[in-house]
Amino acid sequence: MQFTVAIDGPAAAGKGTISRALAQEFGLAHLDTGLLYRAVAVKGGDPVATAQALLPEDLARDDLRSLQAGEAASRVAAMAEVRAALTEFQRSFARREGGAVLDGRDIGTVICPQADVKLFVTASPEVRAERRWKEAGEGSYDDVLAQVRDRDARDQGRADAPLCAADDAVVLDTSTLSIAEAVAQARALVAAKLGR
Ligand code: CDP
Repeated sequence: MQFTVAIDGPAAAGKGTISRALAQEFGLAHLDTGLLYRAVAVKGGDPVATAQALLPEDLARDDLRSLQAGEAASRVAAMAEVRAALTEFQRSFARREGGAVLDGRDIGTVICPQADVKLFVTASPEVRAERRWKEAGEGSYDDVLAQVRDRDARDQGRADAPLCAADDAVVLDTSTLSIAEAVAQARALVAAKLGR
């Protein structure tokens, strides 16, 4: 069976949590595509050459999750040639037997426009900044909010594959939802599509 779930949205909207829950519930493979851009940024060198030579084990590095890595990732992610170098890996992951969930910024719009289920997970910048600030356990909330706004502007404003909801995506605003509520809504959509 091939079955692709595309989950897009801005930083800290809840994509990762929802994707992992869906993958577990429905036995799907999961790719957090942000890790590709994070790995390119953290490995350094010429970003295009690094993206072309990226290996699956690079995604397992333990230094990819920091706020700085996310910031650096959004800079290399604005380069069209970097995105092009990472496209086929994502598409072949999406086609794998047994089905897959991919989360990122352009999965429903560019990488997998034919995805079976498309979700655009979002939340207000204030709510997302508060989540990131609590996760980080350090720094000031105002600084994190400024970073969230900057990253949104960069991701939405870039010329190539800007962050936006696909026309046929279901928008899930998690600003006032608990994790369990958000996951339940996403699960219902996938279950309906799979006929379960
Ligand atoms: O976890 P968080 O949402 O903060 O970030 P991420 O999903 O790991 O993505 C980090 C950065 O990579 C984003 O700000 C985007 O600029 C970029 N990215 C992208 O352009 N396309 C994707 N499919 C995934 C991430």
